[in-house]
Amino acid sequence: MSPQPNVPSSRKVAESMSEMTEIVLPNDTNTLHNLLGGRLMHFIDLTGAMAAYRHARTHVVTAAMDHIDFIRPVRLGDLVTLKSSVNRAFTSSMEVGVKAWAEDTRSGEKVHVASAYLVFVAIDEEGHPVKVPKIEPQTPDELRRYAGALRRREHREAENARRREAKQATAALQEAAES
Ligand SMILES: CC(C)(COP(=O)(O)OP(=O)(O)OC[C@H]1O[C@@H](n2cnc3c(N)ncnc32)[C@H](O)[C@@H]1OP(=O)(O)O)[C@@H](O)C(=O)NCCC(=O)NCCS
Repeated sequence: MSPQPNVPSSRKVAESMSEMTEIVLPNDTNTLHNLLGGRLMHFIDLTGAMAAYRHARTHVVTAAMDHIDFIRPVRLGDLVTLKSSVNRAFTSSMEVGVKAWAEDTRSGEKVHVASAYLVFVAIDEEGHPVKVPKIEPQTPDELRRYAGALRRREHREAENARRREAKQATAALQEAAES
């Protein structure tokens, strides 16, 4: 896999940090007037993609989203602010962390409502993975997230391998039952 032309070999985390704020409108809510989980996942995906685009400076696709805990409901009329940063870049993939807060517009109170890790893969026009710059972690928090990203990648790979094996075993059992 060759590096993209005119793209540096590494970047600082701050260069791609991203943020977005949305107001929760009636179309975004369930029958209890709370933000739909799927809508929040969409905001998380978008904010994560912004950091991945800024880091890779090419097309990116979401390859995986780790489990999300919805810690607190977000109410109709609240402002939702999401922040994202690239925790670590591997060859063509990047782990991005996204954190979301809800703000009560009247009191100004802000509460943490969800966090997620996503993996984005940089691709070219034909959809082939391309190399991305490395990350240069600088602050203690960035170093902690950088180390954690490697552990989570190993965990994802082990989990994917376990699923593949389980699928193969099921297919073999089905074949044996049918013969
Ligand atoms: C993501 C995608 C480009 C990977 O293509 P691929 O041919 O499997 O590529 P490779 O096996 O060479 O892997 C490329 C990178 O993707 C990573 N990757 C692939 N599948 C992954 C997964 N399920 N979870 C996390 N990372 C994954 C690999 O670890 C590798 O990372 P590295 O280069 O940093 O080591 C391809 O699966 C794809 O296009 N998926 C659909 C993405 C999409 O449409 N997303 C929107 C949601 S529908």
